[in-house]
Amino acid sequence: VKDLVIVGAGGFGREVVQVVAAINVVAPTWNLRGVVDDGPDKVASVHLGRLDVPLLGPMSRLRELAYRADVVIAIGDPTVRRRVATEHDWTAWATLVHPDATVGPDVELGPGTVVAAGARLSTHIVVGRHVHVDQNATVGHDSTLGDHCRLNPQACVSGSVVVGERALVGAGATVLQGLSVGADAVVGAGAVVTRDVPEATTVKGVPAR
Ligand SMILES: CC(C)(COP(=O)(O)OP(=O)(O)OC[C@H]1O[C@@H](n2cnc3c(N)ncnc32)[C@H](O)[C@@H]1OP(=O)(O)O)[C@@H](O)C(=O)NCCC(=O)NCCS
Repeated sequence: VKDLVIVGAGGFGREVVQVVAAINVVAPTWNLRGVVDDGPDKVASVHLGRLDVPLLGPMSRLRELAYRADVVIAIGDPTVRRRVATEHDWTAWATLVHPDATVGPDVELGPGTVVAAGARLSTHIVVGRHVHVDQNATVGHDSTLGDHCRLNPQACVSGSVVVGERALVGAGATVLQGLSVGADAVVGAGAVVTRDVPEATTVKGVPAR
């Protein structure tokens, strides 16, 4: 059993607490030391208390804590996630997969990546570092998810798709097969992407524009 620290007390941070608890039910794997956060709001503090997870203090504590613990960054903003990862690049990043997710054969998950409950990643998929695949998102064969990107709940990434670094695929959005979503792009919730999305562009709707 290894020590683990979560960075970020927000909504996703607390969802990661649940992923860790589910993993531990299957096999005792992680001793969750707690959560670091620079400015946890009152609600987050109360909710963490209810989960019986200690708030360990600000991010500056990470340096000292990471000597003895693996770390996972549960911050939604990809730019902040990348900054924290870069500033602590000597850290052992935990890769967490909820036991109710499906990760097929020949799926490569980068360090710090989190796969939430109900997510399905089929086969021959490369997932970068610190990627968040949220609940019930699906990823088809031969796709690539770039570092720090994020799939929101029920996002559907078809086969042979490339999702760029730091891109966001919104809740319930579909990216059709063979397309690419550029780095830093945002696909709105419920959109259907029918052509490549350029870098740093936001698209929404059906078809997505
Ligand atoms: C597409 C998105 C990035 C746009 O964000 P934004 O630029 O702040 O947009 P606004 O909220 O200012 O809305 C601008 C217009 O787009 C519309 N709009 C917003 N999101 C939309 C979406 N997903 N699909 C279609 N239209 C949308 C708004 O109704 C508004 O229309 P109006 O000008 O006719 O009133 C954002 O709404 C979104 O869908 N993000 C994904 C979020 C997500 O997945 N959330 C679930 C988290 S679990």
